[in-house]
Parts: sequence; C-alpha cells; structure tokens
Amino acid sequence: MIPVCDLLPQYLALKTEIDAAMQAVAKAGHFILGPNVKALEAEVAAYCGCAYAVGVNSGTDALHLALRALRVGPGDEVITTPFTFIATTEAIGMVGATPVFVDIDPDTFNMDPARLEAAITRHTKAILPVHLYGQPCAMDEILAVAHAHGLYVVEDCAQAMGSSYHGRKVGTLSDVGCLSFFPSKNLGCYGDGGMLITDNPEVAERAEMLRRHGGKVKYHHSELGLNSRLDELQAAILRVKLPHLDTWLAARRAHAYRYNALLAAAGIATPRERLGEHVIRPTAALNFPLDRLYATYHQYTVCVAERDRVQRELAAAGVGTMVYYPVPLHRQAVHAGLGHAPGDFPAAEAAAASCLSLPIFPELQFAQQERVVEALTATVAGLKAA
Ligand SMILES: Cc1ncc(COP(=O)(O)O)c(C=O)c1O
Repeated sequence: MIPVCDLLPQYLALKTEIDAAMQAVAKAGHFILGPNVKALEAEVAAYCGCAYAVGVNSGTDALHLALRALRVGPGDEVITTPFTFIATTEAIGMVGATPVFVDIDPDTFNMDPARLEAAITRHTKAILPVHLYGQPCAMDEILAVAHAHGLYVVEDCAQAMGSSYHGRKVGTLSDVGCLSFFPSKNLGCYGDGGMLITDNPEVAERAEMLRRHGGKVKYHHSELGLNSRLDELQAAILRVKLPHLDTWLAARRAHAYRYNALLAAAGIATPRERLGEHVIRPTAALNFPLDRLYATYHQYTVCVAERDRVQRELAAAGVGTMVYYPVPLHRQAVHAGLGHAPGDFPAAEAAAASCLSLPIFPELQFAQQERVVEALTATVAGLKAA
C-alpha cells in the first residue's frame, strides 16, 4: 500500500540525533517548559520572522489561547471558513464566541475574501482564515477588510507552517499565527504540540500566562487559564527537525508540481494556486515566482466525481487516500444550533463531496507517484466509461 503519509523515513534519516535528544531530556529530568521549549520558541520565531513564539500543547490550544489572549469572548462573532478541521471552530466555541461562516473560493479551498463584508455585524471581533492544505489565503484582501472594520485576524497555520505570502511566512501576517506540531504536519513532533507566533508582546505575555493556569508566578493566578504546556521531549525532537523543514517543504512542492504535470492529461481537477487575478497549476517546468506566494502542499487534493467509489477503488489498487473533510462544519451536528441548511455554502459542500487527498510526504518516491497517477487515471476513466 502506498500510504497517504509515511513518517518512518524521516525518523530513520534522523534517528541518531532524535534518539540522542530524547535521551538527553530523560537524563536532564526537566520535562515541562524547560530549556528546549525556550530554545525552540526562539528558533521558530527566527524561522517565521516574528518577535515571539509561545509553545503550547496542540494547534487547537494555540487557536484557543490566541483568541483568549486577544480577549475574544462571549457575545463576539468570529468569521471563518466552513471547510476546515473542527479545531478551528472548537477554539471559537471554547472562548464562548460564535463562528460565522463565509464560503470558500473553489479554486483554492480557502475563505473567499469577497464574502467577508456581508458577514460582518456589530458583534464581529475577529477573522480566522485557515491556510488549508498549506496554501496561503488571500491575506491582502482579508487584512484590508479587517483593518477597515477594526477586526483582529488570527491565522490557522496548522497545515501551513513554512508557507509564505509576499515573502513573509504565514502566521506573521496578522495579529497571531497558530501552528500545529501534530505528527503528520509539515513540522511534526511525536505526540501533540503547537505554538502561537506574534509580534505583539502583550499577546505573547497573556498566552504564556494562560498556558500555565493563568498565572505569571507559580501558585498565584490572576485568571482561569489551562494546562497547555509544550513538553521538553517534543521540543527537543522539533529542534532536531526544524533545520530540515525547508528541504522537506521543497520536496513537497516538487511532488505537487509533478502530480500536476502527470495528471494534466487525465481530466482531473488538480489543485490550483491563486496569484492575484491569476489561477495557476504550477508544474515542475514552471518558473514559479517564489517571492510572491509559496504553498507548501501539506496535502495534495484533487476533486473527482463519485469520490467515495474512487477512494475504494484506489484502496483496492494499493493507493491510500484521505478525505479532508467529508462534512463541512456548518453541517456538523455540533453546529446544528447555528441553524444552517444544506446549500448555505455551496462551494464548501461541493468540495466536501469531491475532495480526495493523494499520498504526499517529503520522502515520497517518483515511482510511487507514478503508481498513484496510473491508478487514479485508470479509475476515473473506468467510471466515466461505465
Ligand atoms: C486546519 C487545522 N486547524 C487546527 C488543527 C488542530 O491542530 P492540533 O491537532 O495540533 O490540535 C488542525 C489539525 O489537524 C488543522 O488541520
């Protein structure tokens, strides 16, 4: 089976250093918020190009604490996309605010900024764009709306660490960026982990306080916080991996461009990148203007008719795939109270019905990619002929 994501080759390539880092933590006996967390925070801030980074215990908590740090709370509305993982709206709900959805741009699967104005009310406090699959959102347009209405912007970069926009890393374009170090993410640890990145000292200070039970000084608590600390073992592993991130991201991009080239003739809707007015499908041959926009292809997602059947047939042919995500958030039972009906966000619903993520990870081999493309092309052609 060709897996959709294989973490083993990365571990084997760095085994000596990772094993040594884990042993050093065990020997030092300092497991929570120690020197590795502090060093990793500085290294991630330097990598992303921002002033502060605060390690927490998941991407979900990074989003939750970002909103708490900005004092988004009960009675507030936060505008986001319905085509994302539940953690995005979970964080909004955890602070007592209400998610308000805008539909996606079908070309990019990301929030359509042209729909933002219509979603703003007097309760709107923030916009929460998600750089889905590693593709940066249309941040110029999103930030213009936010500035015009005095709204915060929190970027969900869980799938997009290292992606950039006009030469700046995602997460540093707004008030706060939220990273996930879930094992399969662009930079993954061996458990749960996450980080907030920001240029705002007040936000960083509040997040630091909130992640350890709402207190700056041990056993003195100024507000209710939570236990959300990145641990030393995870930080030590991430410190070994971070220097390799750009090489891995370049490999992901190369795989994506090769998929685009190989699938071009098959009549399959391959992922697109938006450069201002232009929608492009880069191939390996294209001289891509990296200074402008840099998608990192955390996922490589195509759209196909009869998706579930295609997925089953690919599995039978030995090709693993995933559906991110089969049910848009406005159709989730947990959000029934928002009162949405089918058809409210047609682009998100169409994407949820047809999206299929193909195997992609830095160590994916060309021969594996060729097998994926052959199997997908044959399956889609077979279904069309039937
Ligand atoms: C878009 C998005 N947001 C948030 C998260 C939450 O990250 P974590 O799993 O680290 O809590 C994820 C993780 O899958 C995600 O894909």
